[in-house]
Amino acid sequence: MGMLQFLGHSAFYLEGAGIKALIDPFLSGNPQASEGPDARPALDYIFVSHAHGDHLGDTVAIAERTSATVIATNELATYLAGKGLKTEGMHIGGRAKFPFGRVKLTPAFHGSSIFEGGHLVYSDVPCGFLIEVDGKKIYHSGDTGLSVEMTLLEAEGVTVAALPIGGYYVMDVEDAARAVGFIKPCKVVPIHYGTFPVLKADPEEFARRVGNLAETVIMKPGDKLMF
Ligand code: NI
Ligand code: MN
Repeated sequence: MGMLQFLGHSAFYLEGAGIKALIDPFLSGNPQASEGPDARPALDYIFVSHAHGDHLGDTVAIAERTSATVIATNELATYLAGKGLKTEGMHIGGRAKFPFGRVKLTPAFHGSSIFEGGHLVYSDVPCGFLIEVDGKKIYHSGDTGLSVEMTLLEAEGVTVAALPIGGYYVMDVEDAARAVGFIKPCKVVPIHYGTFPVLKADPEEFARRVGNLAETVIMKPGDKLMF
């Protein structure tokens, strides 16, 4: 049985057979974070959906400390390899086999950039992740608007989907509930809301809109979900 622990905003700890991983580890400076960047002594992988600070977060420091391999799009992975990290640079629509299971990168409609030394040093398309753990499929959409590409995920048989509901930069509760109708996961976890003033959303309203399309699991930072 696998375990997904919500760490606040879009960050998760994912554990299963052959994998201890973080997803979008924005922990330092995250007002919702349930743990700090030094909380995990051992990690195998870090999934990074895009380079915005609230997703790339503490990736460099954590990967340096744990020697975890960063899985991201090729350009972001190349940037991070330049910082001395171990990386797997995949791309949208690509699927790869890892010791724990397969990973597919999914489209996300959003931006991706890093300001470094006062300059925009990197920009690339963002992504989401479809991660197979213990024979189950976890879909973390990253930051994205609603898209018809999400209808393709229905055929994958998603066990748990983590979807942003905060609006402004990403889907709001209305669009995220429509996304659930496209994806048809068993369970859905609303993320990326309440962290900053513009990310206003009511997870209970999201749950009402999802209705019986899926089981909505509203996680507080630190909560664990077995799958
Ligand atoms: Ni973003
Ligand atoms: Mn974000």
